[in-house]
Amino acid sequence: MLKDCNISEINRNLLSRTVTLAGWVDRRRDHGHLIFIDLRDRSGVVQLAFNPEVAAGTHETANSLRNEYIIQVTGVVSRRPAGTENPKLLTGDFEIAVNRLTILSAAKTPPFYINEEAEVDENVRLRYRYLDLRRSRMRHNLMLRHQVIRYIRNHLEERDFIDVETPILIKSTPEGARDYLVPSRVYPGKFYALPQSPQQMKQLLMVAGVERYYQIAKCFRDEDTRADRQPEFTQLDLEMSFIDEEDILRLMEELFTGLVETLKPDFRLVKPFARLTFTEAMERFGSDKPDLRYGLEIKDVSSILAGSEFGVFSSAIYAGGRVRGIAVPGCGGYSRRELNELNDIARSIGAGGVVTVSLDSSPATIEEIEMQDVHSIAAKYLNIEQVKAIAKKLDARPGDLILLAAGKDSLTSAVLDKLRREMALRLQLADSKMFHFCYVTGFPLFYRDEANSRWDSVHHPFTSPCEEDKHRIESEPDKVTSRAYDLVLNGFEIAGGSIRIHEPDLQRKVFRLLAYTDEQIEERFGHMMEAFSYGAPPHGGIAAGIDRLVMLLAGESSIREVIPFPKNQNAQDLTFGAPDYVSAEQLDELHICINSENKLKGK
Ligand code: AMO
Repeated sequence: MLKDCNISEINRNLLSRTVTLAGWVDRRRDHGHLIFIDLRDRSGVVQLAFNPEVAAGTHETANSLRNEYIIQVTGVVSRRPAGTENPKLLTGDFEIAVNRLTILSAAKTPPFYINEEAEVDENVRLRYRYLDLRRSRMRHNLMLRHQVIRYIRNHLEERDFIDVETPILIKSTPEGARDYLVPSRVYPGKFYALPQSPQQMKQLLMVAGVERYYQIAKCFRDEDTRADRQPEFTQLDLEMSFIDEEDILRLMEELFTGLVETLKPDFRLVKPFARLTFTEAMERFGSDKPDLRYGLEIKDVSSILAGSEFGVFSSAIYAGGRVRGIAVPGCGGYSRRELNELNDIARSIGAGGVVTVSLDSSPATIEEIEMQDVHSIAAKYLNIEQVKAIAKKLDARPGDLILLAAGKDSLTSAVLDKLRREMALRLQLADSKMFHFCYVTGFPLFYRDEANSRWDSVHHPFTSPCEEDKHRIESEPDKVTSRAYDLVLNGFEIAGGSIRIHEPDLQRKVFRLLAYTDEQIEERFGHMMEAFSYGAPPHGGIAAGIDRLVMLLAGESSIREVIPFPKNQNAQDLTFGAPDYVSAEQLDELHICINSENKLKGK
């Protein structure tokens, strides 16, 4: 090799020894006739000292070095003079007294500083991702991702799971998003679809007798990009035969507990994982992916307000809705502008607004509160007993701000979920060093897609209904509970799965409810139905979003920070410039004719 050790290996055992290192010039400092270079490799940074009295020619060459030049140096490991140590570096007590220097590669001035964590426009970072990945934060994230995947592989392989690859060029498999399609050259007019997940393949592997499958799988979904969503992402995908829900939940709890405790020992992990039913999660947090690191729980105050003359409350209750709310500690003194901001948030998701009730902080307890301490547009319709009852229900104290949403559950849940997260952010209620996992179970199997007047699957159509609800599929689809489960971490859905349908007749019944004709079932899922007819073991599985998991472990707020080459917010790959036009010849070969403008390369 061009080097005989990594920078992080430099320690007192190497003192006075000659070493050869290779790496990047992280920064250069000239001190009179001495030149100091911070040399960086993947493992760390060390100071090089160039002294003309030690090696005149080398010192001369060092003069020409610029940031990001790649060099090889040979020198003696020395102790830095007392008082010049750098406690921020692992190697900060040492320097290399260089006597030989070779420039391996010169470098242009990079478009942003590699040696600083300054904010840089994300599109510039993505355009020069290979430079961005040189920065210590990104190097750390890449390493963490590698460690997470290695931990998962070891854990599962010790438990008899085998890694099976599944194809990327397949037929469409429904996960609720749009497919990416790949035109076939050999079959004009036909297309492959990229897998939204390996769902059907892993089920076929169970029919094949694999029993315990896992894969670190690439998935492709043509949906809008968000902080926690990419068109192309990675799942830990797994499936098991002869199990029930508890086996999967226990397996994943053990896996993630071990993973967090090993890779993030300084974080507080809440054990055992919390469990909520879907109904409970929606009732208490307004969301099926609640952040449990803080309270601000939602409570129903409709019964206290029944008969209220305040139109917002009475019309909601009259229409069969409810009034629900949260109490935000210490925000009773919010200004009109701040209260308006909260109203705007509520309106942004389709509500008329949120009713704010500000409580003065002067009374010692809620019992002592009087109407003059209560500020709200609803105040003149409320009596003090109602205010006290609401405050008690919400665990509010004097000085708190009560936020009330009125209407259909779907609306009040959405509004209060959003406000709950907003207030937690403002008040910094979520401990950034805590991992609070939570299983959510008992989801409905179907939902009514009103826009298209049809039933659709809440998860995917292979999810099994609960045994006792099987007979309701045709008669009361909205009352069927599924055997699905999600795993939520700090407000993010990081995994989802279910026990599957393994009986062909039941699967057919579900497809029919989802408005597939028998011809469509045959055409789209014939392979599954046929496979099941040869005997499918009872089976189930789960898939975890690796990108989301690593994002949370790394303390990042976007999965783009933990994906080596992500797409930007507009689904473009800026490093390669994809998507791009292709030549007329390529299109011809694929039997494709583009009917929009600017269609061909160069036009
Ligand atoms: P699901 O669609 O819930 O389930 O996906 C599983 C997990 O994958 C992650 N995820 C994403 N991450 C980044 N970008 C995206 N666009 C994206 N979409 C999903 C989430 C999610 O929890 N086949 C089923 C699993 C099963 O039933 O076994 C499936 O794919 O963390």
